[in-house]
Amino acid sequence: MTRPPLKKQITVPLVLAAVFGLAWYVAGRFSWELSPAASEQERMSHAAGEWVRALVCIAFWMSAALVAVRALNELAFFIFRKRKGYEAPSLMRDLFSLVLYVTAGAVILKYTLDLSFAALLPGSALLGIVLGLALQDTLGNLFSGISLHADKPFQVGDVITVGKHTGVVTSVTWRAVKVKTFSNHIVLVSNTSIAKESIEVCPQNGQNARIVFFSAAYADSPVRVIHAVREAVREAENVLRYITPVVRMRGYGESGVDYEVKYWLSDYSRYNDTDALIRQRIWYAFRRNGFTFPFPTRTLHMEPPAAHDGDGRDTETLAGLLSAVDIFAPLTPGELNALAASSSNHVFAPGETIIRAGDDGDSMFVVSRGGVDVRVDSNGTPRTISRLGEGAFFGEMALFTGEPRTAHVVAAEETEVLEIGHDAMRGLFQTNPGLVEALSHAINERRAGLLANASAPSGDEGTHDGLLSRIRRFFRLD
Ligand code: CMP
Repeated sequence: MTRPPLKKQITVPLVLAAVFGLAWYVAGRFSWELSPAASEQERMSHAAGEWVRALVCIAFWMSAALVAVRALNELAFFIFRKRKGYEAPSLMRDLFSLVLYVTAGAVILKYTLDLSFAALLPGSALLGIVLGLALQDTLGNLFSGISLHADKPFQVGDVITVGKHTGVVTSVTWRAVKVKTFSNHIVLVSNTSIAKESIEVCPQNGQNARIVFFSAAYADSPVRVIHAVREAVREAENVLRYITPVVRMRGYGESGVDYEVKYWLSDYSRYNDTDALIRQRIWYAFRRNGFTFPFPTRTLHMEPPAAHDGDGRDTETLAGLLSAVDIFAPLTPGELNALAASSSNHVFAPGETIIRAGDDGDSMFVVSRGGVDVRVDSNGTPRTISRLGEGAFFGEMALFTGEPRTAHVVAAEETEVLEIGHDAMRGLFQTNPGLVEALSHAINERRAGLLANASAPSGDEGTHDGLLSRIRRFFRLD
């Protein structure tokens, strides 16, 4: 509730002070000294005149005090606003005025009727007990209000949740906290219940976050979903620009993958609208990227047996992919088809390890999408020695020599690889002797790279001929 302007507050008491001041002056003019020989009637009319004069005097000073206290209040809280940058709570203003009124009242009584504050104490003690009992709840609210102000857990403009009410604090009075809910209802929560209950406070200028949930179909790549949603959300109105929203997977739901997006708001009191806007942005991001919202339905797929059980790619596509790998260039289309049919496609998330150094390995891989990093341990910390992109192969060293894996291979981004097993290669070696030659060249080159990083086995197998005969022995080709 806003206070009326000072002019309005002091007009009436000013007029009253002028009227009583004039009356006091007139009463002074008509006062007279009582002579010792005055009759009983004269004494009575003199006493009555003195009483009227005292009352008019009190009325004058009280009107003047009213003007002075209101003006002082306005001045003091004008300074408060300038220094603190926000409006003082009305409870503080009321208490300030109360103290001034009591002081002014005591001073006026002392100088007009010569009544001291101490003389009023016995009576006021009794009155205090009676009032205290009668106003138990009201005083409880007052003191809770005072402690609320001392504590300052929230301010006008903050969003708070008390009990089942959530809304913006519009005022804190000596009796209650006024909260405007998001349905535009005013809820008055008494100061005593605020002091007893736990309150959730979202400060007006704080970094308040919200979480919005959504789901995507299992077929939609998490990396792409997370990226698309984050980009769509960060530009939305009322989303804090300097904190990037966080999008993460929450779990695997019945119909799809469950995600959440956490974002920070500039103005928390508008979180309902902003949540709705975020959901809208997610819908458009899904539409643009071809993602699907999972519906709580059961879909029965009647599919013909797949030509290949890889990640949705058929044998022909995979054979096309293998034909682009330089070492497989000499293979006939039939051999490429056979190789594709006996291989399997796998997808890895960024940072996932595909091969671990030191493990045994009986398969090699071709990168069909994305890229991988080849890493060796250097003084206990992994160091990337090579990046292999689409169409490159890896894992051939352990497969063709029977030695443990020589390096770690880690997906650098979302990556699909085609895994080719020992048996599939053995068949090809018998019909393509040149393949062993090409592979041993590739292995030798990579060994040189590893040697430069001091992590390759040296010795007889390190030479081209040694390696060639080792591969032949391993695959029993002689
Ligand atoms: P393998 O030893 O089976 O497992 C790790 C793989 O990393 C290895 O086979 C090679 O395919 C690959 N690799 C090792 N050294 C290099 C290198 N210098 N350049 C590219 N790839 C390499």
